[in-house]
Amino acid sequence: MIDKIKEHIAEVEKFTTESKEAVESFRIKYLGKKGLLNDFFAEFKNVPNEQKKEFGQTINKLKKTAEEKVNTLKSALDNTTAETGIYGDLTRPGEATNIGARHPISIVKNQIIDIFSRIGFNVSEGPEIEDDWHNFTALNLPEYHPARDMQDTFFVQTNPDILLRTHTSSVQVRYMENNKPPIRTISPGRVYRNEAISARSHCFFHQIEGLYIDKNVSFADLKQTLQFFTTELFGKSKIRLRPSYFPFTEPSAEVDVYWGLETEADYRITKGTGWLEIGGCGMVDPNVLKNCGIDAEEYSGFAFGVGIDRIAMLLYQITDIRLLSENDVRFLEQFKSAL
Ligand code: PHE
Repeated sequence: MIDKIKEHIAEVEKFTTESKEAVESFRIKYLGKKGLLNDFFAEFKNVPNEQKKEFGQTINKLKKTAEEKVNTLKSALDNTTAETGIYGDLTRPGEATNIGARHPISIVKNQIIDIFSRIGFNVSEGPEIEDDWHNFTALNLPEYHPARDMQDTFFVQTNPDILLRTHTSSVQVRYMENNKPPIRTISPGRVYRNEAISARSHCFFHQIEGLYIDKNVSFADLKQTLQFFTTELFGKSKIRLRPSYFPFTEPSAEVDVYWGLETEADYRITKGTGWLEIGGCGMVDPNVLKNCGIDAEEYSGFAFGVGIDRIAMLLYQITDIRLLSENDVRFLEQFKSAL
């Protein structure tokens, strides 16, 4: 008898069908009032005492297996597209999905790309692990040049030729090596400097550098381009260029935007001066053009670089740069509505 029940269990386990009627007759056969299970239960009283335990356990197993089989076959059939159409049950309540947010760095980067693309700049990218040539030497920073100290470099292992790029000027070198003027390109990306981490500075951050090379490009073109940029991004059109030094540009300047002194925050951000420094710029040094295979007699150009993190902090009033890389969802969620 017990063996017979076990055969039924095996049969139930194997059973499958795609028809509702077949499921129903299967149910009746095993679980119906006059079904096999009730027959077996009725048999229970005739079973010798020493077998009762095993017999009981076996029919219970058959019952459970049959019930489970009926339930799974039924729900599988309910969910088939033939029953519910390709959209499923449209009356079921929807599931709330948690929408992600763009990172503030990406928002600002995209805004800047958008502004420069309107005046004909394309986007170029390059590797974060660079060689000495593209990060330094081609940019008029030969070995032992003191200005190399300005950029506290992370070297990869002990090879002094391989490093984490300290600026995206390296991308501009690659671009000039591979493209002929006229060139109008911006290079966004992450850069690395071995600096102490604080609320104001991090050992990695993001830059966008721009490069414009053509015949007769002048400093006035540079100023006009930067002014267009600050007007579009901040709504502030007054800028000033303070003389400065970069090995790869001559003359070079620091770019300040007149932020104003209307609110208390303006005083804090501009340290009471009303002016805010946003980056560096200059006319590309002829040596750099030559290093990249461009005729410096025929062509001239300008370059500039701004820090994306600082601009994001300014626009969103973020007071600690570390928040930008800590991936705290409570912080990131706040940018949901931004773009
Ligand atoms: N590469 C410079 C820096 O990272 C910025 C810069 C770019 C300055 C282009 C002038 C021209 O500090």
